[in-house]
Amino acid sequence: MTNESFGNVLEESKGYRGGLVKKAKTQINWTPELLEEFIKCQKDPVYFGEKYMKIRTTDPDETGSRIRIIDLYDYQKDIIRAMQHDSSIVAECARQSGKTTAVTVYVLWYIIFHEAVEVAILANKGSTAREILSRIKMAYEDLPDWLQQGVEDWNKEYIALENKSKIVAAATSADNIRGRAQNLVFIDEAAWVDNWDEFFTSVYPTLSSGKTTKLMLVSTVNGMNHFHQITTLARQKKNNYTLISVGWQDVPGRDEEWKQKTLAAMNFDYEKFAQEYENRYLGSSGTLIKGSKLQEMVSSIPISAEDKLKIYQYPEEGRTYSLIADVSQGKGLDHSAVSVVDITEMPYQQVATFYDNECSPMDFAEKMNTLGRRYNNAYVLIEINDIGSTVAHILHDTFEYPNMLVSADMGRAGKVISQSGSSRNDLGLKTTAKTKRKGCALLKLLIEQDQLLIQDQNTLHELSTFIRKGKSYEAEKGKNDDLVMTLVLFAYFSEQEFFKQITEISTFEEIRDETSDEIETSMAILGIQVIPERQVVDGLELEKHTDEFWQLVDDDYHSF
Ligand SMILES: Nc1ncnc2c1ncn2[C@@H]1O[C@H](COP(=O)(O)OP(=O)(O)OP(=O)(O)O)[C@@H](O)[C@H]1O
Ligand SMILES: [Mg+2]
Repeated sequence: MTNESFGNVLEESKGYRGGLVKKAKTQINWTPELLEEFIKCQKDPVYFGEKYMKIRTTDPDETGSRIRIIDLYDYQKDIIRAMQHDSSIVAECARQSGKTTAVTVYVLWYIIFHEAVEVAILANKGSTAREILSRIKMAYEDLPDWLQQGVEDWNKEYIALENKSKIVAAATSADNIRGRAQNLVFIDEAAWVDNWDEFFTSVYPTLSSGKTTKLMLVSTVNGMNHFHQITTLARQKKNNYTLISVGWQDVPGRDEEWKQKTLAAMNFDYEKFAQEYENRYLGSSGTLIKGSKLQEMVSSIPISAEDKLKIYQYPEEGRTYSLIADVSQGKGLDHSAVSVVDITEMPYQQVATFYDNECSPMDFAEKMNTLGRRYNNAYVLIEINDIGSTVAHILHDTFEYPNMLVSADMGRAGKVISQSGSSRNDLGLKTTAKTKRKGCALLKLLIEQDQLLIQDQNTLHELSTFIRKGKSYEAEKGKNDDLVMTLVLFAYFSEQEFFKQITEISTFEEIRDETSDEIETSMAILGIQVIPERQVVDGLELEKHTDEFWQLVDDDYHSF
């Protein structure tokens, strides 16, 4: 392009910010030197970024300009190189470390030097995604014309270049991204995306395979949620993500003095600092399941997630299932939750969950009827303290569900679960402080000994905030524990005589073997020979019956 014709283009393209965007079909006057430089840029996004990409910075340069070309930090180069060579990347990064900037360099390079590719920039909020796109547009406008492609579309959430490459910016919940074939999906602040499972399974079913689409997740961390799962698996090399971690010390210019100032500005909230600047995934303190176990637990991506029902394993012929429900009043505060557990053998496995806060008792009973029948007429246990009793009766009377569990209060022996039709029985289980305590203690044993495998992310998240309160456990303020309660009920059921009859497994004896081994070892270390008549193991009190057999004591005394 001659200088004269470039001037005309400038005139014609005043609609664009700065008026510097090249219009489609503009010719460039290529010299050998320019061509060489172009090829250098084409080969290397880091070279391209450091030499030509202007970004808006917080500190002005010597001329007072905040918009300028910068040297990339080492980890920004790592992020760009990983994006260039790998197919799935996850970067856990401190706040304000330049993580978004690093990705914008790659995205800009990617659309300029690739034809007919589509990039999605996604974030929890559409405005965040649009802001990132505006940064890319701004940098684009400042590129020399020989690096620019002509522009066909130049909007707030969509741009298209002459080489047919495009960028869309949207919220992760947006409909217009569903099912589009994108070559690169960048999710900024991925740890803060709500309803991650739904997003992944319904909006981007192709992403989980990671075959055709490059996926870039960048975020500050946010507790033990889906992002924790992805980075944990990446650290354990159990998924195909390349992991990049950037802590505050990696950012040039941040030193001890900076740390103290930042902490002071945060009112010395060390936990918040650890989360925002040191990539620490915090669960609550005093959780039922010990922190080290929670840290290593990972969920699975559901094979189907529709209408609040998540399936991790389809029903299989010949297997036995139990469906446990915790039913709320449906005021939108609590949730009605269901877990389906495969009880054919140990370890037991959570194979499906249903979670809703708007369901009427009738709808809920209908859902349970369908789900229970699908899972080989699963044994259904419903918590009936609240509106659960109504649901249980609808399921029993209207849907004539075949495998309903009932319970009877047997005094010192506690609540006994069976399937008998006696009118003395409750249709379901009314939890008391005692059943809950026992359920919690058993659940702790089951999970910590890997005898109950949790597949569902929401359940894991609830476990990370299910904490001790007085003698019992419950959700931390502002959190839910409905899915955890289905498992507490399940754990209680797993120790019942009726459970032994249907599964031929004595759950507690199985887990006790492990537990007493541990106890014997620690006692041997201490030189203690005599095993007491009663002992407490992980909050469960045991009574010696014979040398071989220790029975779970079921009275009001527990160690917590
Ligand atoms: N290599 C660099 N050199 C100098 N400044 C940089 C560099 N990279 C980014 N910055 C500046 O640092 C600031 C933060 O950058 P950016 O928004 O990319 O960080 P972030 O980690 O995504 O931040 P946040 O946690 O707020 O999302 C911006 O003002 C940006 O211009
Ligand atoms: Mg950012």
